[in-house]
Amino acid sequence: MAAHDLTLTDKAALTSGLGQMTTKPIEHAGIPSVTMSDGPHGLRLQHPDHEPGQLDLRPATPATCFPPAVALGSSWDLDLAHRVGAALAAEAAAHGIGVLLGPGINIKRSPLCGRNFEYFAEDPTHSAEFGGAVIRGLQENGTGATLKHYAANNQETDRMRVSADIDERPLREIYLRAFERIVRRDKPWAVMCAYNGVNGVTLSENTRLLTDILRTEWGFEGLVMSDWGAVRNRVAALRAGLDLEMPPTGGRTDREVVAAVTAGELDEAVLDRAVERLVHFAHRAARPAGDGSTAPYDEHHRLAGEVADHSIVLLRNEGPLLPLDPGSGTVAVIGELARTPRFQGGGSSQVTPTRVDIPLDHIRELADGAHVEFAPGYPLADGPEPDADPTEVADRAVRLAAASDTVVLFLGLAQQDESEGFDRDHIDLPADQLALLHRVLAVNPRVAVVLSNGGIVRTAPWHDRVPALVEGFLLGQAGGGALARVLFGAVNPSGKLAETIPLRLEDSPSFLTFPGAEGHVRYGEGVFVGYRGYDAARVEVAFPFGHGLSYTTFAYRELSVAGADDGAGIVVRVTVANTGERAGREVVQIYSAAPAGSPVERPIRELRGFASVRLQPGESREVTIEFPRADLAYFSVRDRCWRIEGGTYRIEAAASSRDVRLSAELAVAADADTAELDVRSTLGEWLAHPIGGPLLLERLARSNAGLTSRLADDATLRRAAHNVPLEVVADFAGGLIGRDELAALADRVAEATG
Ligand code: GLC
Repeated sequence: MAAHDLTLTDKAALTSGLGQMTTKPIEHAGIPSVTMSDGPHGLRLQHPDHEPGQLDLRPATPATCFPPAVALGSSWDLDLAHRVGAALAAEAAAHGIGVLLGPGINIKRSPLCGRNFEYFAEDPTHSAEFGGAVIRGLQENGTGATLKHYAANNQETDRMRVSADIDERPLREIYLRAFERIVRRDKPWAVMCAYNGVNGVTLSENTRLLTDILRTEWGFEGLVMSDWGAVRNRVAALRAGLDLEMPPTGGRTDREVVAAVTAGELDEAVLDRAVERLVHFAHRAARPAGDGSTAPYDEHHRLAGEVADHSIVLLRNEGPLLPLDPGSGTVAVIGELARTPRFQGGGSSQVTPTRVDIPLDHIRELADGAHVEFAPGYPLADGPEPDADPTEVADRAVRLAAASDTVVLFLGLAQQDESEGFDRDHIDLPADQLALLHRVLAVNPRVAVVLSNGGIVRTAPWHDRVPALVEGFLLGQAGGGALARVLFGAVNPSGKLAETIPLRLEDSPSFLTFPGAEGHVRYGEGVFVGYRGYDAARVEVAFPFGHGLSYTTFAYRELSVAGADDGAGIVVRVTVANTGERAGREVVQIYSAAPAGSPVERPIRELRGFASVRLQPGESREVTIEFPRADLAYFSVRDRCWRIEGGTYRIEAAASSRDVRLSAELAVAADADTAELDVRSTLGEWLAHPIGGPLLLERLARSNAGLTSRLADDATLRRAAHNVPLEVVADFAGGLIGRDELAALADRVAEATG
């Protein structure tokens, strides 16, 4: 059925939803309805007897709650991400869901963002790889993915109105880059446009982002849907390239579309374009209804546990205090979070789990010989004793700590501390928990702190006094078992941070501009977000991007770097050895550093690739990581294109962004410079241009060989002249070259560079 076979009313109706999570069918045209579902780490299903048109927040049908992106991303294991995508697809199919509203890949610009639990990293390469792996897992198994939230949805504050004001270079290199890579490589069936605006234009009406960049530049052919309630003007949104308004408006905006076409204000061809995409989307994604019973939930619970095992990050381990010896002494498990675990974030991604592993139960199971005692230490609103006397609860915990050999202290953030819909205003742990921590340390120094949090928390005021520090983030329904396995060494932790933990919030690059005011947030730090910013400012951090310890140790040997045979890739080989006593997994990270003297300010290093390697004690293995040469490019605002500058790059093999183990140099030829030259271009730009340089020198030699040889020999003259427009140089040199002749030279360059 093509668009022109439908009535105008049908077409308008088709481009908005039927219910909260469904698209409209057009029976007479054989166009089926598609059922969609949140969220990125598990199906947020509606209550079995919910009203289709109503938002129903009653406990939903259970589904597997996998570790949210903050944890999955900390695994740095793309195979696991792919398997999670496949498992989500299986549960979606079992429920007749054709499209999942995820993954979310927005960059963690500020630690305060309430939704950071739902995103992967502060780095676009990491986010692109993880978003892509989940999408491939979903779509290879017949469930569409919805890449979100396009774009620059990096805060919850005023999210439905705020304009993210971002210069072109950070927009391209940081905030669009993961979207671009995924759209070009993994071809998501849908993209969800964000609530916010970019540079003053709301995304749902942003032609430049929705059409010029997403479709014309990147070749996206799927469906663009709105975030729920993001459309302000349906007609303008259709014009900009938004195909599907969600949720429906009870026909109000459908009538606006009909009226606009009828009045000649909206070209029907624009509507037809959206209809064609919706028809293709509907036929591709419609699925028969299902009750969910055919999905392998036990297998998925095990997968959720395997992901959690690999996501836990060991930040500190002095002594080493961990792993605990199951047969030794008494272990005090303190903290309500050990009994009432927080394993996912709040908002639209919230899943009703099929089951939940309780950390305390699994600690008791694994502790066989050790004697385990529990004390809540602090009340939680969703715990069994929310109204307990906090002082009494804390006193009891301190007494237990004093009487025990080792303390495992569960600390973290509660649902009310962070969520979709609002941002945090600080990054500290709750005051009652900090007070408890200090009282416990005063009576027993042998403390392992286990954190449960979606956004990073400030650890610096106390972490030096804590021998062991385990960052669990939010680990999904099977995280409780994983924490016990790591604490007792049944699993050797191998997770790595995908977000820097700063010493102070004030050190974060976005601190002075987040979350903006009066409808605007200025991304003043440019490309220097996350580790890029901390590195550039030479700021000490508590724990750097990519950091994570193990119960064993690894050595890096024999790094080699070469251009790939096809010239399109850079191939890095490094040998990793397990130099400790336990089997373990190491995540090798590859960073690049641009040549000295870059024409633009560049981060000290940028992640280009990574790989996991599992090694037995004493074993070593060569790891190969390849990345596209194009990844070395920066976005030239002047030339409005990506540019690879020529020169010597440093390629680093690292255990974290601040633990570079080996590095090697790589000579890279510049792009054939197609930069336009003109009389206002500086002498330095002319001389650096592969075509303009020789032309100019040949012309200069004809009228002033002395100047030419001085330019060649006199570095100071060359450095000074570097910043002087050519027409001024010509004037300085006594009218060395007339302006007409300079313009003619520029024309010759333009012709030669096409
Ligand atoms: C929410 C979220 C989006 C979600 C959608 C549907 O507001 O921003 O991620 O998929 O609405 O629930």
